Amino acid sequence: MSKLCVIGTGYVGLVTGTCFADLGNDVTCLDVNETRIENLINGIMPIYEPGLEEIVTQNTESGRLTFTTNFEEALKGADFAFIAVGTPSGDDGEADLQYVRSAAESIADLVNDPIIVVNKSTVPVGTGDWVTEIINKRRAGKPLDFTVVSNPEFLREGSAINDFMFPDRVVLGSINSDAAKSVAELYAPLRCPVMITDIRTAEMIKYASNAFLATKISFINEIANMCEEMGANVSEVSRGMGYDHRIGTQFLDAGIGWGGSCFPKDVKALAHMAVLHGTHPQLLQAVIEINRNQRRRVVLKLRKALGGLDDKVIGILGISFKPNTDDIRDSPTLEVIHLLQNEGAIIQAYDPQAMENAKKELKRVKYCENPYQVAEGADALILATSWNEFKQIDLKKIYDLMNQKIIVDGRNIWKPEVMRDMGFTYYDVGRGTNGDTEK
Ligand SMILES: NC(=O)c1ccc[n+]([C@@H]2O[C@H](COP(=O)([O-])OP(=O)(O)OC[C@H]3O[C@@H](n4cnc5c(N)ncnc54)[C@H](O)[C@@H]3O)[C@@H](O)[C@H]2O)c1
Repeated sequence: MSKLCVIGTGYVGLVTGTCFADLGNDVTCLDVNETRIENLINGIMPIYEPGLEEIVTQNTESGRLTFTTNFEEALKGADFAFIAVGTPSGDDGEADLQYVRSAAESIADLVNDPIIVVNKSTVPVGTGDWVTEIINKRRAGKPLDFTVVSNPEFLREGSAINDFMFPDRVVLGSINSDAAKSVAELYAPLRCPVMITDIRTAEMIKYASNAFLATKISFINEIANMCEEMGANVSEVSRGMGYDHRIGTQFLDAGIGWGGSCFPKDVKALAHMAVLHGTHPQLLQAVIEINRNQRRRVVLKLRKALGGLDDKVIGILGISFKPNTDDIRDSPTLEVIHLLQNEGAIIQAYDPQAMENAKKELKRVKYCENPYQVAEGADALILATSWNEFKQIDLKKIYDLMNQKIIVDGRNIWKPEVMRDMGFTYYDVGRGTNGDTEK
């Protein structure tokens, strides 16, 4: 059993801390956000993540998992300090490292025993060395026995517990292979491939992975746009491509584009790093550009279908950036709503989990209690997030409630022929529908 302190109790820190406790370690999760910690102590989850509440409860009851805002208490006697704080986009897309700096400074100020500092936050290449420098500088005259290990996180919101417990791989980067091996020991019960590299390579693996996945989505969206013009069906194209093992089926779903707390900021940060180092990230720029356009195309389709958006009532189904999460950070829906509002549209919206977060971010929106309220009096509906709840919706009821029967299916969840048979004017992404009402 090892003693871990996890700094930052968000999507990554809370899942990491809880899962390591579940694997038998003594874990203290630390955060500067007092309300978040107070809620966790009272069993209230700060985020929606399937299965999280159960596993947090089990491990707090067993005494292996505790929560605090007290840095001294959390770091006392810790063998490992995991940094899992946010690294949002700063100016020009550069990663903002202020929270990482602050976590490193706390470690420097409060730790006296040997410790391994594990960086789980997604950070620019070279940050591991920078964290080492921060700690060494602050401890000048009273050196601290520590090593920094980069351990990027690959979990996906919505399946985070499963992703942590059954990872495709664990990547560890350090100049000290013994320190990397000690971190590898923590993951040993998971019996997954562990790759030990130098620290900069580990940091780059994370960015390159996210940028590649975003590229795959932008690629299929570009193909989808071509399909729309050329009369092909992008879903079939994806399927036909995906059977090829070199390509694979995942991340080839055309739609209104990628978003979330990771892809947008990580692709931007990688492009920014590239420019700083004198290389030309043309591909990444195109990936970002295609994604931006994809959101605008939805608005374009609606404007055309409705002959203008002023005073039109548009219903939005789904606000989170993907299903099974309440996270709306950089969700494509937010931009689509802003664009529609700029043209005078009236928005009514519903999301199964993201309503509270949405209310803080989006004003002038009528928040509905269910999809049917969204449809009531709507001139058009946009399906923006592919929650299961929407796949089984009563479409007849939706049809009857709508003012004009126009649907833009931004995630291709419904069958075009079914929608047309029901009488909808149906648009999707790249399946050749173009608002046709006849087969
Ligand atoms: N969310 C994901 O799906 C995901 C997946 C892989 C990697 N990542 C990366 O992991 C990192 C964390 O992401 P997240 O989504 O969990 O962020 P988050 O915003 O959900 O959580 C960050 C937490 O850190 C806390 N914090 C900030 N400064 C602190 C400090 N000095 N001491 C203690 N707590 C502090 C904040 O209060 C917040 O609760 C980011 O670098 C992100 O890119 C995220």
